[in-house]
Amino acid sequence: MSHLFLIGFMGAGKSTVGRRVADALGMPFIDLDEQIERSTGRSVADIFAADGEQSFRAAESAALASLEDVEPAVIACGGGVVEDDANRRVLKELGRVIHLRVEADEALARIGDTSGRPLLAHGDAVAMASTLLAARETLYRTAADAVVDTSGASASEVAEEVVAIARSFGEAGG
Ligand code: S3P
Repeated sequence: MSHLFLIGFMGAGKSTVGRRVADALGMPFIDLDEQIERSTGRSVADIFAADGEQSFRAAESAALASLEDVEPAVIACGGGVVEDDANRRVLKELGRVIHLRVEADEALARIGDTSGRPLLAHGDAVAMASTLLAARETLYRTAADAVVDTSGASASEVAEEVVAIARSFGEAGG
């Protein structure tokens, strides 16, 4: 099996669910934001603040492309990874993609303190989240091979569903 990518909005549960899914499938887990933080030695918030979003996006694309040389893993992507056309092609080339769907209000409730999420940290977080989510909805849909609705579901329920889908990908030769 190739990589299993989890995409979706901030607060969708990609990292929490991804760890559980990786355990269940006996695969390594990679959090793309954490990988960027390790390789740059700075937090995502610091990169946004000091160098701007473009600089973060370049690091994100480089981190994603580098996964070509890594053994198959469950990978939690940052919520904005789908905005770049080339990133969406890389996702398709390197594995299967599952979209964890979440509504803006539930996403914000799960995130709680938005200070680590630069795109939601300034101004009206509800308005920002709704606008950004609406703008990305189609991108998440077109990038994904499958969608799991996380509304009202626990991380373990979502993980179970993702594992079942991943196994069906495996059976289909993915
Ligand atoms: C972002 C989501 C964040 C992080 C960065 C930008 C986005 O990751 O990559 O703050 O554009 O939606 P999470 O989705 O893991 O919070």
